[in-house]
Parts: sequence; structure tokens; C-alpha cells
Amino acid sequence: MKGASLRDPLEIRGLRIEGRIAAAPIATASADHDGGPTPRSLEIYGRVARSGVDLVVVEHHAVCRKGRARVAQFRLDSDSMTEANRPMADLFLAEGCPALVQINHAGSQIRDEALLAEKYPISAPSEVKHPSCPLPIRPRAMESAEISSTVESFAAAARRAVSAGYRGVQVHACHGYLLSQFLSPLTNARRDGYGGRIRDRARLLFEVVEAVRPALGNEGILSVRLGLSDSLPKDPPEGLSLEEGLWVARELGRLGIDHLDVSGNLCGYDAPGEGYFGDWARAAREAVGRVPVTCTGGIRKLETARDLVESGACDIVGIGRGLQKDPDLVRKWKEIL
Ligand SMILES: Cc1cc2nc3c(=O)[nH]c(=O)nc-3n(C[C@H](O)[C@H](O)[C@H](O)COP(=O)(O)O)c2cc1C
Repeated sequence: MKGASLRDPLEIRGLRIEGRIAAAPIATASADHDGGPTPRSLEIYGRVARSGVDLVVVEHHAVCRKGRARVAQFRLDSDSMTEANRPMADLFLAEGCPALVQINHAGSQIRDEALLAEKYPISAPSEVKHPSCPLPIRPRAMESAEISSTVESFAAAARRAVSAGYRGVQVHACHGYLLSQFLSPLTNARRDGYGGRIRDRARLLFEVVEAVRPALGNEGILSVRLGLSDSLPKDPPEGLSLEEGLWVARELGRLGIDHLDVSGNLCGYDAPGEGYFGDWARAAREAVGRVPVTCTGGIRKLETARDLVESGACDIVGIGRGLQKDPDLVRKWKEIL
């Protein structure tokens, strides 16, 4: 597919993005106990808003209390959180920097032992221990009523996100969290309509997308961050295959998502080398047709970012840890572009 320059503007659902460099979502564990921003959150995201990036995806916000990965995680689980999150969204509006917010349910991938003290039952597709979660959690298989209420929680969180002032949401369906657990045969052993073949393992994600779309209104952008496979590009295949992941991407394109960000599923987001998800992004871009695709992961050099966009592997590059280390990185790149 055709490439572009890092300086070329792009339109996503009527929103003009001035260039092709995005800030990837990076969880800061900076929220207060209710899931709202603290002065530290506002300081961190103020820097991101001023960093010169063309688009920001703000870190994962839990769609419900039992869908948290950490105590200090942001939440969009009640209408009071709409107001609480407005100062965050305002930071981006003030800088003219388009921002989406990521919405998530952690399922059985709890990152923080302190959550276990709250003693609520932890839900997952099946009673399978999460392969990459070190905590001793034996989750409970979600019943169909809980599946429906989870879909509603995603839709309600999306509605709150646009009311708070964000331009849209990114549904988190990678890195081993709930939607990712449903996609993977390693964590999903269900025998009902949500398990088995890939079209059934992807059903919850499709239902979430279909419920979130109307909740965003006409202008709200619906992005999905999809884990394309359970094994990293150079590793032996296991679990969710790349072929299955690309099928899901194609279906998401048909369902009318506005943007796709690709990453790893149960294998997570990290791998050796530069721009390690480049080939996956290229394949996903072909699969989703006209939907713009972001490639994130190990993009440390300007040349890597440029090659990925110019060669047509992706429309946008996402930078995570590089911007954490050097908040001026993108400004410096743009001076020599
Ligand atoms: C501390 C940390 C927190 C992260 N939090 C999130 C998150 O909230 N949502 C998400 O989708 N990815 C998250 N990621 C993954 C990043 O978005 C990104 O995919 C990863 O860091 C690889 O890109 P990079 O090499 O540019 O850092 C996180 C990564 C790190 C290191």
C-alpha cells in the first residue's frame, strides 16, 4: 500500500491530524483512589500535550471497578469520573493536540497485589490461570449476564470520555487484558458462543465495538488496539495466530472502526530490535482497507519512524518509552524533518 511522509496530515473521522507521530498509551499509576487525575497526572500529561506529537492515546482507564489492573489506575466507571477527567482532556484541548483515551477491563491480569485485598471475584473468559500474571489468581468464568454488563460498561465509559472532552476512545484488546483473554485460546476455553473458533472468541470484542460506536456520537473516534498474535514475530507460534488476528482486524474494518493500533496479544508489547511490529502493521493495513493503522514498538530512531510510514507499513507511528525518556524527542525530530 501507498506510503506517506511523517509530515503529511491525515484525517480520521473528520478530525485533521497534522502529522504521523503519536504518543502511545503509557500507564503512569498516577490516579487517585477514585480513578481520577492527581496533580502528578496533570504534570505528566501536560508534558505529553506539549511534546509536539500529532495525536495522543491516554493510558488505559478501567471501565468498571472490577476491571482495574491497579489501584492507582484511571477509571471512567461512573458519571462523577466525567467531571474528574475533564482537566486531563482540557490539557490537550489547550494545546490543540487531539487525544483519545484508552478504555479497558483487566480480566484476570491484575498487576497490583493490593487489589487482591479488596476480595472481589476476579473474572475472565474461563477458570484458567493467566499465563503471564505472577499473582496467585484463579479467576471465575464470566457468566452471560456479566458479559452483557461488561459490554455496557465499555459503552458507558466511551460516552463519559467524549463528555469529558476527549475526541474518542481506544478499546484495549491486547497485552493480555480481558478482551485479549477472550481472543486467545490459551485463556479462553469456553464452550458457548464466546469460545472455540476465532469468530466466537472475537465476539465480545465485536459486541463492545458495536456498543461503543453509538455511545460516541457522530464525531467521536473509535480506535481499537488489537493484539494480533500470542507469539512475537520471531517466536514459534502458539495460541492466537497471526492469521486469526488479521481476520479479526478485517472484521473490525467491516464494523466501521476509525483507527487500528497493532500490538501483541498475550505476548505483550516488547520485543528485540527496532520497529518490531512493522510487518504485522503492514499486513493489518492491507486487511483493514481504508482504516488508518498505527505501528508502535521499539521505534527509537527517526529513520525507523520514517521508513515505516514512507514504505507504507503504517499510517502513524506510536512512541512510548522514547517519549518517557526524552519528552522533547518528537520536537527534535520535527526540527530535522
Ligand atoms: C510503563 C508502561 C506502561 C504501558 N501502559 C500501556 C497502556 O496503558 N496501554 C497500552 O495499550 N499499552 C501500554 N504500554 C505499551 C506501550 O503503549 C507501547 O506499546 C510499548 O511501550 C512499546 O512501544 P515503545 O517501544 O515505543 O515503548 C505500556 C508500556 C510501558 C513500558
